[in-house]
Amino acid sequence: MTTSAKIGVFLSEDKIQSRVKELAAMINRDYAGQEVVLVCVLNGSFIFCADLVRHINVPVQIEMVSLSSYEGTESTGQVSFRLDVKQSLVGKNVILVEDIVDTGLTISFLLKHFKLKNVKSLKLCSLLLKRARLKIEVPVDYLGFDIEDKFVIGYGLDYDGRYRELPYIGVYGE
Ligand code: IMP
Repeated sequence: MTTSAKIGVFLSEDKIQSRVKELAAMINRDYAGQEVVLVCVLNGSFIFCADLVRHINVPVQIEMVSLSSYEGTESTGQVSFRLDVKQSLVGKNVILVEDIVDTGLTISFLLKHFKLKNVKSLKLCSLLLKRARLKIEVPVDYLGFDIEDKFVIGYGLDYDGRYRELPYIGVYGE
């Protein structure tokens, strides 16, 4: 395991895992008797989505999307797809699975995009939300943790491509 004296544990593995189970239970309850498609927003959501799906007990399919970074274009929120879903989502119950909502620009782009696909329903599940950083109102239907404005790493979240493998969420430099 990668450890560093500079990384403080912000959300422990146990705390994350029990919240993930609670989120899955909410989804199971809301979609009882129906099918869902989880759309995992790469790369950061891969661990969260993998843990979440293992507690889902309604019929589920997984799709992956990957967006180009909006680095340098944050003010306009211009993003585009590197990888899009492989199936038609018409008439499907779609849940976007995101690691963290920061400014909200990425997920707003995705919500707008999927709303145009004639889905049956569209919801958002995000492990983390930095409410103070939002630039745009984002409806998070299933939220893991509302966190303060700190740059967090681990459990899929990276700093410069590193630390995704940590089983907990930490704050770099604390
Ligand atoms: P948004 O478009 O500003 O909401 O940005 C969302 C994306 O920014 C996330 O999917 C992450 O990839 C990245 N991000 C935002 N805050 C953090 C953080 O604290 N740690 C790691 N990645 C972050």
